[in-house]
This record gives sequence, C-alpha cells and structure tokens, in this order.
Amino acid sequence: MATAKKIDKKHITGGETDGGITSSYATKDGVKLKVPYSFMGTIYGKEEEEAVLAAMKQDTLTMGPKTAEFQKKFAAMCGVKHAFAVSNCTTGMHVCTQLFDIKKGDEVIVTPNTFIATSLVILKEGAIPVYADIDPKTFNIDPKEVAKKVTSKTKAIYVVHYAGLMVDMDPIMEIAKKHNLLVLEDCAHAPYAEYKGRKAGSIGDVGVFSFHSLKNITTCGEGGMITTNNDKFAKGIEMLRCMNLTHERDAGVNEWKFGKITCKKTSPLEYWLPSHFDVNDWNGHWGNNYRMNEIQAAVGCVQLDKIDMLTEKRREIGHKITAGLKGIKGITPVFEPKECKHVFHLYTVCVEEKELGASRDQFMKVLYEEEGIQTILHYQPTYHFTGLQKMGYDPDQCQNANMFFYKREMNLPMHPRLTDADVENMINGIRNAAEKVRTKK
Ligand SMILES: Cc1ncc(COP(=O)(O)O)c(C=O)c1O
Repeated sequence: MATAKKIDKKHITGGETDGGITSSYATKDGVKLKVPYSFMGTIYGKEEEEAVLAAMKQDTLTMGPKTAEFQKKFAAMCGVKHAFAVSNCTTGMHVCTQLFDIKKGDEVIVTPNTFIATSLVILKEGAIPVYADIDPKTFNIDPKEVAKKVTSKTKAIYVVHYAGLMVDMDPIMEIAKKHNLLVLEDCAHAPYAEYKGRKAGSIGDVGVFSFHSLKNITTCGEGGMITTNNDKFAKGIEMLRCMNLTHERDAGVNEWKFGKITCKKTSPLEYWLPSHFDVNDWNGHWGNNYRMNEIQAAVGCVQLDKIDMLTEKRREIGHKITAGLKGIKGITPVFEPKECKHVFHLYTVCVEEKELGASRDQFMKVLYEEEGIQTILHYQPTYHFTGLQKMGYDPDQCQNANMFFYKREMNLPMHPRLTDADVENMINGIRNAAEKVRTKK
C-alpha cells in the first residue's frame, strides 16, 4: 500500500515517551535486561493523536464515517470486496462461527498452536474443535494432518497464520472444496502478510484480524476486522455484528407490519413512525453488539497509512536476526518460504536440544539471567487447558505442537522500535548463551 502522507517516524525510534513496559511482561526479579520482550511507551505519533481528537468532535461516535473509511481502506489493503470492523478478533470469529451455522455436535478442524480465542468461538457454539498437528518448520497447521481429520461431522477449517507467516493455503482450500467445508483465516498475527501474492484474509471464506495492543497495528488496544469476498456472507456479518436489526423503512417497501402496528412509508418520512427497527434471528443465531467506535476506527485509518512502513521495519529486523543466527549450532532461525511474505508479528527461534547439548529451558534461563534477553512462549497446545482436558482431549495427540511448546520454541523481542543495538545484543546474547550451556554440560 502506498504511504501517501508524510509519516512521523519518531514513534518507532523510541526515546520520546516515558511509559512503562507496554505489557504484562515487566519483571521485578533484579535481572538487568538488555532487551526486554516488549517496548517502552506509546506506539502512537501525532497523526493518531490528531485523528482521535477529530473523531471525538464528530456527532457520531460509533459506526460513522471513520468506521466506513477504515473498512474501505482495509478491504483495499487486503484485496477483498468487503471488510467489517468489530470490537476484537474473538468477537469477529464468533460472528463468523454463527455465520457458518456451526452448532452443537459439528466439528471444526483447528490448529492447537494458537491463542485460546480460535477454539473458544467453536466451543461457545457447542461445537467440537478437532486438532490437526502443526508443521515443525513453519509452526502452522499442516494440510496433510487436516486431511486426516475430516469426518462426516466436519463443517469448517480454522487456520491461524502463526507469527505472521501464512499457512500453506492452496492445499487447505482444496481439502475444503473436496469436502464442502468453510475456511476461516485467523489473521490476528498477519495483517499485510502474503502467500503467493495474495494477502492474509483474502483466500478463505472469511478472514478475521486483531488490533489488540501488541498486534502489528492497533486501534487503541482493542479492535478487529472481518474480511470476505462473499456477498451473502457480507450481509450476515453486518447483521450479526449489530443485533441483527432490520430497518424496514430503508428496505424499499411502502407498508410493513411491526408488532401490532401497520406502518406506512410516507414521503417525506413521518418522523413519529413507531417502528425504527425490527429484530430477527439470523439462520437461528441471535445477533450481538460487537461494534467498533469511531475513535478506534480513526486510529485504524492512520495505522493503515503506516502499515507498509511498520511491516517493512519488522521485516528488516526479522531478516537481520535470521542472518545473525545462521550457523549457531542447535539454534533454528525463522523459516520464510519463497512464496510467503512474513510480517514478523513474532520472531520464533527454536532450540534443538540434541544439537545444542542442552534443553530449551536451560538455554532460555541463561539467555535471560546472564545475557539479559527476555523471551516468552506462544502457545501451549489448546487441548492442554483445564477446560479442554475435562472434556477428555488426548494430551499427546499432536506431537509436533507438544514438542514445539514444551521443548523447542521461544519468542524473541520483536517490534518496530528495536534498534540495531538491540538486534546485535539479541544475536550476541543467543550466541553467548549457546556457548555457555554447551560448556556447562
Ligand atoms: C492467534 C490469535 N487469534 C485470536 C486472538 C484474539 O484477538 P483479540 O484479542 O483481538 O480478540 C489473538 C490475540 O492475541 C491471537 O493471537
């Protein structure tokens, strides 16, 4: 996307704010951090501040002109026909689950390597998440494993573009076509990511994005967007997002019944007409209030103007880390297949225990305590959570996902404000920690 406006880059170079660590990752254990997992202060610049103030002065504070603009810009960025702003990615995926008419007893094939939200929306509708294992190289759901999990009860496939690298979508869409399944792309990590020249959120039946505080772009800490090319789905999304309200007076009819009243459309419209709206179910599902407000949408528009620059910064940092980690025995940097554009929401390094001669946990501890590099883990396989264990899920079912979380992965600090010195510190820290754990043995 072209960044037409001149953008103030100060906010990504840091140093101009005095906030605390922008997340719950702050620690008070006396360890002197060289590179904390998260960054200090606001990510916003003057442009967002001005957009917020302008939106606050509007008559309409929700679902107004800024929401319409944000949706239009977002759809253009993704190369899709429709985009609908929602309160967050979880509510957006809930809308889509209702839209897909997923109900009690239906099965949805999903990755275990994701935030709970991806399964939660399936569970909320009484359906059953069925886990397909991940590819150990990309950490994304493996299409071969998906194919094995299809049954007569399967209704949909929910994929997650983990860390900002898109899933191998062609075979997923082939499986879906063969078995008449719907596909949801959880794009929480992947705005602006590409697979064979196509953007995240433009390949499945729907795509759903998150603008949570730590995501690649954010709308004041919460927010989401649903994308689709399907006109019928577009109508359903619009209805389910906002109570499933219908406005008969706008529907081109001259007379309609509402409760006990027969209403007539007159010209000009008589303002006292009692039926402002009607409410119905959508295919047996009740609507929701999952709207986004105008202030968030105004910030979203500015963030979209910056998405090209913010993504390039992440990619530049990601590629520097990858180059710096090459050749460190036992440490596997990020894999970026040729057909994909990774947007580095996370930078996931893997520790290969046998080659390193020490466990991931030993390595991570030395990296943190002695080298001052703070790393975190994403994600515990969803079926390991207590609520799902109570449902009887086999804890050993996806070996790659289990190995990934408990033995291999760790996420390095990754955000556009990392400086060259931070990147150098991370690379040196990893090299030193690898040496230390090897010789400690
Ligand atoms: C992969 C994934 N899916 C869904 C979500 C939920 O997003 P939100 O907080 O906007 O509901 C997240 C948030 O962290 C996520 O990482």
